[in-house]
Amino acid sequence: MSQKVWGGRFKEETDALVSRFNASIGFDRRLYAQDIEGSMAHCRMLAKQEIITGDEAALILEALGEIKREIDRDDSAFDNDYEDIHSLVEKVLVEKIGPAGEKLHTGRSRNDQVALDVRLYVRDTIHVVIDLIKEAQLALVKLAEKNFALIMPGYTHLQRAQPVLLAHHLLAYYEMFKRDVERFQETLKRTNVMPLGSAALAGSTFELNRKMVAKELGFETISENSIDAVSDRDFVLEFLFNVSVLMMHLSRLSEELVIWSSQEFGFVTISDAFSTGSSIMPQKKNPDLPELIRGKTGRAYGHLISLLTTMKGLPLAYNKDMQEDKEALFDATDTAKICLEVMSRLLGEISFNSERLKAATECGFLVATDFADYLVRKGITFRESHEIVGRIVLFAVDQEKELHELTLDEMKGFERRIDKDVYEWLDPALSLKRRNIPGGTGPDMVKKCLIKAKRELKI
Ligand code: ARG
Repeated sequence: MSQKVWGGRFKEETDALVSRFNASIGFDRRLYAQDIEGSMAHCRMLAKQEIITGDEAALILEALGEIKREIDRDDSAFDNDYEDIHSLVEKVLVEKIGPAGEKLHTGRSRNDQVALDVRLYVRDTIHVVIDLIKEAQLALVKLAEKNFALIMPGYTHLQRAQPVLLAHHLLAYYEMFKRDVERFQETLKRTNVMPLGSAALAGSTFELNRKMVAKELGFETISENSIDAVSDRDFVLEFLFNVSVLMMHLSRLSEELVIWSSQEFGFVTISDAFSTGSSIMPQKKNPDLPELIRGKTGRAYGHLISLLTTMKGLPLAYNKDMQEDKEALFDATDTAKICLEVMSRLLGEISFNSERLKAATECGFLVATDFADYLVRKGITFRESHEIVGRIVLFAVDQEKELHELTLDEMKGFERRIDKDVYEWLDPALSLKRRNIPGGTGPDMVKKCLIKAKRELKI
C-alpha cells in the first residue's frame, strides 16, 4: 500500500531522492499530538454536521487515541516512510479501521491542517516558555534579595560610572524578562486563531462548523480569509522574534557573568558544578555555560532571518517553502527552553565577592556626579559645576588620590564654596541613598521594586 496521500494522478513511482528531499516526517513528527488533537476536533465536527456518521466518528476517535498513545510510548512507533506527520496519522488510521478512516480528511487539506498544527504547537510552547522566563525572574529576585547590601560600580562604555545597588542591576534583567513575557502574551493573541475550514485555500463545499472546531480546541476566533489562513506564518515569525529578543537578554546577562568571573573583575565566582576546566591548563576554571548561552543566541537570530527570507517572495497561498518553518521553530524553542533552564540554575550557583565590589566602587571617581550635584546645591550652575569637578578629578588623577582623599583646602583651591559637608557627597553608600527617586538605585526604591516583583511572580 502506498504511504502517500496523493497517488491517484500519478503513473510513475516517486523517485527515492525526491521522497527523501520532500519529506518532513523527520522533524514534523514532533507535531503528532497537535495533529491528532486537531483531527479529533475536526472528526467530532464532521459527525455533528452529519457529514460522517456517529459510528464512523466513534471508530475514528478511538483509533486516533490509540495512535496517540502508541507514539507517546515510543516516538518511532511508525516507520519513517511517510511524507509527513499528517500522512502518517491518516495512513495508520486507515490501516487500523479501513474506510471510516478515509473519511477523516473530508473538507480538509494538509494546508489548513498544518497551519492548525503549528498554531497549536506555538500556543503550547508559548505557555512553557513564559513559565521558564518566570523561573529565571524568580532566580534573579532571589539573588538580588540575598545580596541586597552590596554596592557595585555601574558602567557606561564599560567604564566605571556611578555606584549602584547590585540588586538594582539584577532587577534590570527582571524588567527585560517582563517585557519578554508581555511580547509572548501578545503573540498568543494572533496565534490563537483557528484556520481549519480554509481547506486548500478556497474554503470548503461542506457545511463545516468552524466555530465548533475553534471552541473545541480553545481558539478565541476563526480566521477571516481562507487564502490568508493557509499562507500566514506571521505568528511563527513573531515567536522567533520574541525568542531572539529573549536570547539577546540572556546573552547580555551571560556576557556580564563572563566578564565578572574574570580575574580582572573578580566580582563573582561560579560554583564548580556549573563551571568547566581545560584539557591542557590545569589551573583553568571556565564560564562555559554563559558563553554557550551567548553563543546560542546567534542561532536564534539565524532562524528568524531564515524564515523571514523564506517567506518574503512567496505568492499566495500555500507553497512548499513554508515547510521550512518547522526546523527553525523547533530549534528556536529548544534553544530558548534549555538556555532559560540553565540560566535559572546558574543564577543560584554564583556568589558575589563583596570585597572586590567594594574596592571597585571606591576607586575610579564614581561619585563625581554627586560632587557636581553638591555644587549645584551651593548655587553653582550644573555646567559650571561639571567643569569644576572635571578639573578637580584631573588634579586627583595627578595626585593619585580618590576624591574623598583630597583635603578640604585642596578642593577649596578650585571653588571656595566647597565646605566640609562635601565629604558626605563623596561616599558611595550615601550617593545611593540620595537616589530614592522612582526607578532609581536608592535602597528604599529598590526594596519596593523587589516587593513588587515578588507580587508579580506571586511569591
Ligand atoms: N509538510 C507540509 C508542511 O510542513 C505539510 C503541508 C503539505 N501540503 C501540501 N499541499 N503539500 O508545510
